[in-house]
Amino acid sequence: MDFNLTKEQQMVRDLVREFTENEIKPIAAEIDESGEYPWPVLKKMGELNIMGMTVPKEWGGAGVDSISYSIAIEEIAKVCGSTSVIMAVHNSVCCYPIYKFGNDFQREKFLKPLVSGEQIGGFALTEPGAGSDAGAVRMKAIPDGDEYVLEGNKIFITSGTEAGVILLLASTDPSKGTRGLTAFLVEKGTPGFSYGTVENKMGVRASATAELVFENCRIPKENLLGELNQGFQIGMTTLDAGRIGIAAQAVGIAQGALDESVKYAKEREQFGRPIGKFQAIQWKLAEMATKIDAARFLVYKAAYLKDMGKPHTKESAMAKLYASKIAVEVANQAVQIHGGYGYTKDYPVERFFREAKITEIYEGTSEIQRIVIAREVLDQ
Ligand code: CAA
Repeated sequence: MDFNLTKEQQMVRDLVREFTENEIKPIAAEIDESGEYPWPVLKKMGELNIMGMTVPKEWGGAGVDSISYSIAIEEIAKVCGSTSVIMAVHNSVCCYPIYKFGNDFQREKFLKPLVSGEQIGGFALTEPGAGSDAGAVRMKAIPDGDEYVLEGNKIFITSGTEAGVILLLASTDPSKGTRGLTAFLVEKGTPGFSYGTVENKMGVRASATAELVFENCRIPKENLLGELNQGFQIGMTTLDAGRIGIAAQAVGIAQGALDESVKYAKEREQFGRPIGKFQAIQWKLAEMATKIDAARFLVYKAAYLKDMGKPHTKESAMAKLYASKIAVEVANQAVQIHGGYGYTKDYPVERFFREAKITEIYEGTSEIQRIVIAREVLDQ
């Protein structure tokens, strides 16, 4: 076992760190306030080849491993939760399944513009009656000649109003439950595809979380991803990968909160010395740092197993469960260390506190991660 990062992983870290410091950190608070989708930054991320990180080079991707990818998400999340979730959803739950389950036509048509950053990708599973219960999808895809007709609504879709390509799950055989779901690729601008509510959220406010409405929306049969009625399996495999990305995001938010706390503890003086000289603060910092390291190793382990082509359902869920839990705890302590200032928008820990919470909710709540882990543990 080697705990050192490879040269490639270090290169990715340094490149993304420099980019986020220069390009994302200066706008993070602003876009959180305004909710403006960070298109200019995303375009530059495409130019840097971080919008198709694990996609092989022959399809225009960076072809790096999943640990490098997790490192990149962590670096972005350290400064901006909105940009990191857009990037994570785009890479993990749109580019990855199109590459893995798509045919060459679909890779050429849909994947290449995503990987270049020309378009952003989305993933649409959740509906008013189907979130944690992913198999309860009601949206219908009805075959009609060379087309499918989509009818129904999706909610809480990251990049919903901005994504050029959306991978969605719809029911093609309601009598079969999870075995009657199919994955489709839908393009922005397709007639019959419109937007409903755009959410006004607590955190990650610039990620354009929206409702998608499909009314007599006709898509060609060639947009079916994988096989007919294979959608649930595609969705679950995709979420196994996606949870690594969200876990990496949680580690990044926590690391950002710790970095700010360390800086503040050295600057802020009370009782005649920097507050970092007091054990009350030192103990908090020590616990925060320990939890972050533990979470990061869970992320790397899940990423490693994925790259080895080994089962990683349990490990992804463990990484997501633990990293999101400690992100909330660490961000909470970061606000506490900052005292009254931490409760204001003058310091980024206020934003980290709000951003951390969503990591316990999306791509499966913590309750769902426990179900996934417990099933695997009981099976062993
Ligand atoms: N990989 C591959 N296949 C899988 C799988 C996996 N990880 N998990 C289950 N399957 C397969 C099973 O083998 C089974 O196959 P068969 O029909 O051939 O037997 C089939 O899928 C059904 O499995 P289950 O009986 O386990 O299905 P279930 O209905 O009991 O699923 C659940 C339970 C695991 C909790 C699932 O519903 C789940 O993961 N829910 C959470 C969904 C989720 O994460 N939603 C978040 C939305 S996405 C999002 O938030 C994105 C964003 O914008 C940030």
